[in-house]
Amino acid sequence: MDWGLRNRFSSILQPATGRCVMLAVDHGYFQGPTTGLEQPGRVIKPLLPYADALMLTRGVLRNCVDPAARVPIVLRVSGGTSVLKDDLSDEELTVSMEEAIRLNAACVTMSIFVGSPHEKASLTNLGRLVDEAQGYGLPVLAVTAVGKEMVRDARYLSLACRIAAELGAHFVKTYYCEGFEKVVGGCPVPVIIAGGKKIEEREALKLAYHAVRDGAAGVDMGRNIFQSQWPVEMIRAVRTIVHDNKTDTQAWDTLKPAR
Ligand code: R5P
Repeated sequence: MDWGLRNRFSSILQPATGRCVMLAVDHGYFQGPTTGLEQPGRVIKPLLPYADALMLTRGVLRNCVDPAARVPIVLRVSGGTSVLKDDLSDEELTVSMEEAIRLNAACVTMSIFVGSPHEKASLTNLGRLVDEAQGYGLPVLAVTAVGKEMVRDARYLSLACRIAAELGAHFVKTYYCEGFEKVVGGCPVPVIIAGGKKIEEREALKLAYHAVRDGAAGVDMGRNIFQSQWPVEMIRAVRTIVHDNKTDTQAWDTLKPAR
């Protein structure tokens, strides 16, 4: 890795812990105005001080985030589908690397769809993105998307994460599952987890704790933060798990004043 790439990478995975709390607010790129994220600017602003990085599209970045914000940007550069289609795997790269640099992105990210009808295109797009991003010193986060018919088990997620790393992704986002340590153990780059659908706050903290305990380098969490009735308290509680090695019970206790 060259200096610029390492510098950007270390702005996301915090050098003190090797982990990150990334706030995911890119859902609108195929879901439109996702519940809780109808007005991204309002949602993002109070959470920014507690996010190590912000994952989003260029449209939301340009229109809803203060350019004076100091948060590293993980820019989604894939898209081209919507929830109106049954098959969400038909994505293309949607942003050039020159644009990513103009937007001062710290990292670029795209989804891969292992086992889906467009598996090959998404994987070759990842290879192309790594090539192009490398030329600008930009790290690449691969997101292992899961189709409706696919099981989120350790066997599948190990396969998808390993393929992403083999194709050159600098880190990978996937889902937590039983046997998660096998997913991490078989992947030569750091693995972070998505939060997934909104669940009870207590359960979301347990998910984050189990993931970190089993080797995740942090979280890229969206709905379980911005759809919570206590978004700021939730992201702060997640930080205690990721960066202070607190348990889910200890993190839950920090929510007491809000509950
Ligand atoms: C999904 O493709 C998006 O990249 C989301 O950012 C991701 O799923 C993380 O958000 P959540 O924690 O809401 O699952």
